[in-house]
Amino acid sequence: MSAPAEPVKSAADREATAERLLRSSLEHSYEPAIDIDWVAPLVDGLWGIPQHRSSLYGTALWDGLTEEQRRTLTIHEVCAVARMGLWFEMILMQMLLRYAYDRDPRRLHVQYALTEVADECRHSIMFAKMTERYGVPDYAPRPSTHRLGKLLKTLGTGPAMFAGTLFVEEILDQFQRESMRDETVQPLTRMVNKIHVTEEARHVRYAREELIRIMPKTNRAQRAAARWFTALIACIVARDLVHRDVYAGVGIDRAVGRKAALANPHWQESLRWSARKLVPFLREQGIIGGPSEILWRKAHLV
Ligand SMILES: [Fe+2]
Ligand SMILES: [Fe+2]
Repeated sequence: MSAPAEPVKSAADREATAERLLRSSLEHSYEPAIDIDWVAPLVDGLWGIPQHRSSLYGTALWDGLTEEQRRTLTIHEVCAVARMGLWFEMILMQMLLRYAYDRDPRRLHVQYALTEVADECRHSIMFAKMTERYGVPDYAPRPSTHRLGKLLKTLGTGPAMFAGTLFVEEILDQFQRESMRDETVQPLTRMVNKIHVTEEARHVRYAREELIRIMPKTNRAQRAAARWFTALIACIVARDLVHRDVYAGVGIDRAVGRKAALANPHWQESLRWSARKLVPFLREQGIIGGPSEILWRKAHLV
């Protein structure tokens, strides 16, 4: 049975939600620079992410790695995924600032947008520090993705901005939520994930409600643009979620590793699993459907 459709939201609802989110931000926020023990030693025998979420899990390449190499690969993978998150957070901060720039700062929902910028700013520093602590390279997005990010932060507004944001936030949330509860995973990953999951729950609420509010006011062309924009973000993020250079960290040729990961049914299933709660919501909002759905299929998200 499918979940009941979310009710349409009014401007009064918007302020009430913002008030709740602002209160929750005061009560449940972290300062990663203080709340994470950055000098604690890493624990021998633990993983960067649960091993069944590795992009190579279940492949012949995985079988050919030693247990130690597999653990190392998952450390590179957690940092690569966080780097993709960081890339999007920088875009999101700019989109949120542009949104606030055009609005009355006395409105609580505008103050919440600014609060979210502050959260994302701490998250980006936290992800960067985690990568440094694990001692792995900076898995910056490819030049084409980097350039696309500049386009997104300049052009992304309205439904496309909130739907794209939801995509990145919700799939990361699913991976991180599972990982923070897994005792085979390094405490550093678990604490970073706990902080991120706690604060992102508010961002997801905010973006979902904004999308519900905006969609009835859009015309056909705006809806079509939002579908393509969101599908493009989803496809790029999902296909490059694990940077191809991570495989070199365990002696596997980057092209060979990437090819095996993209063809890996376990990894494809993980991607669909991470999007399973978001996809019905975006369909209900008219963001998934029509010709752009081909990108969602290509990325193994539906
Ligand atoms: Fe974040
Ligand atoms: Fe967020």
